[in-house]
Amino acid sequence: MFQIKDLSMIYDMNTDLRTYALKGIDLKLPDKGLIGIIGPSGSGKSTLMYCLSTLKDPTEGIITYNDIDITNVSSSERERLRRREFGFIFQKHYLVPYMTAIDNVMVASVKGRDEEKKKAQALLSELGLSEKEYSKRPANLSGGQCQRVAIARAMINDPKVIFADEPTASLDHANAFNVMKLLKKYSEERLVIVITHDKTILKDADSVIEIWDGEVSR
Ligand SMILES: Nc1ncnc2c1ncn2[C@@H]1O[C@H](COP(=O)(O)OP(=O)(O)O)[C@@H](O)[C@H]1O
Ligand SMILES: [Mg+2]
Repeated sequence: MFQIKDLSMIYDMNTDLRTYALKGIDLKLPDKGLIGIIGPSGSGKSTLMYCLSTLKDPTEGIITYNDIDITNVSSSERERLRRREFGFIFQKHYLVPYMTAIDNVMVASVKGRDEEKKKAQALLSELGLSEKEYSKRPANLSGGQCQRVAIARAMINDPKVIFADEPTASLDHANAFNVMKLLKKYSEERLVIVITHDKTILKDADSVIEIWDGEVSR
């Protein structure tokens, strides 16, 4: 589904600060499964994810997603992809502080209110939150619970691809393990890309791509 050809990203191209974040990456990613992207800090992992998910434009190269060159589509098409086909999970949960857990899940939904509420409840329950926690705000939930709300939000539109950038980095070991178990389960029906610098969370990954200094080294 994703095909990446000769992908390069140079930040601050026209200044002395020029940084080669990605250098001629070639990759093919499958339709389903748990794919790990591992590498030290600064190796280009997030940049690769931003390019794949249309959040950033590469300097060079082609990325096709289901045969569409996504480096070359309109901003409305990019937005459609991000809303309808992609789900995002970050190291920080980025929940809206004044909204309840369930409203945070529904905020990303593209469907009608009643339908989305049932789906949000089902997701939160599946992710191990109890009913009384649905109406709590992020400040009254634990870090692990907030991250699970963020995962429910990423799942609400039934995405075909989940991009998770260091999803367990702010969690203790038990919560990190739980989050990976859920992502593994969700990867049975979609592509889940997990970026990390921590090899231990990728033990159930279907494949692992190593990035070193902007290059793939498998
Ligand atoms: N917005 C930016 N402007 C300039 N340089 C950047 C920017 N984002 C990342 N970089 C640089 O690009 C390189 C790769 O960064 P990044 O993709 O964030 O790596 P990782 O996610 O593996 O830590 C690093 O050298 C980083 O400093
Ligand atoms: Mg990063």
